[in-house]
Amino acid sequence: MKRETRNSVYSGVRRISSPKLALPPGLQPNTRLKMDGIEFLGKLPAKSVPVAFFDPQYRGVLDKLSYGNEGANRGQRRAALVQMGKDLILEFLRGIDAALIPSGHLFLWVDKFHVCEGVGSWLAGTELGIVDLVTWDKETFGMGYRTRRRAEYCVVLQKLPRRAKGVWKIHNITDVHSEPVSRRDHPHAKPVDLQGKLMSAVSEEEDYVIDPAAGSFSVLEAARECGRTFLGCDLNG
Ligand SMILES: C[S@@+](CC[C@H](N)C(=O)[O-])C[C@H]1O[C@@H](n2cnc3c(N)ncnc32)[C@H](O)[C@@H]1O
Repeated sequence: MKRETRNSVYSGVRRISSPKLALPPGLQPNTRLKMDGIEFLGKLPAKSVPVAFFDPQYRGVLDKLSYGNEGANRGQRRAALVQMGKDLILEFLRGIDAALIPSGHLFLWVDKFHVCEGVGSWLAGTELGIVDLVTWDKETFGMGYRTRRRAEYCVVLQKLPRRAKGVWKIHNITDVHSEPVSRRDHPHAKPVDLQGKLMSAVSEEEDYVIDPAAGSFSVLEAARECGRTFLGCDLNG
């Protein structure tokens, strides 16, 4: 029997919309802004964007990745990036929480150590809660004292009220996604196709998608491909 999808959780219809955003001075859409992410988030009106991506530059990653055999070039590029301590990550998350509309989504990139140890404590004082997880298979492997790293993880967080019905409109995204990515531009570049699918599931054409620590600006590329409007920055531009 054909499943009735019109008014079910599997519907492709989004029943929420985003307010029209009057762009604050100093923010240009669809560009690689060179700016501190906290300053950027402070400029955004409250409850104004439906979707955010955040890929923190964890201070602890350098220790966990100090396998000594990663290749001098990539190690040096990683070490040159400004690292984020827990307090700064919490400040980013509070800023993103404020900018998201009710039922808006944050896609938070984490490594396996954060998946195991949990990111729940980072969410205190926000309206964000974990609703899903996607494993990204990079199709190439890095180093590791025990197993060799081949995956990273995208935690799907939603602001209150948390629901999929009438909000999440694409239902063929699998929770394991394979996509190779060139690290030529940035040692932490994330997969453009996956990010495009995720943003398309929770926004409409021309809606704003933000990324306050954008690195190689893979989210800008995904937004361009999906007809969304990108707003974001990196300390390095
Ligand atoms: C893990 S990388 C992001 C990679 C990105 N998702 C991509 O696909 O290329 C984190 C980035 O945060 C940036 N960063 C660190 N502190 C920042 C801050 N206070 N404001 C903005 N960007 C910051 C670093 O320069 C680095 O490029």
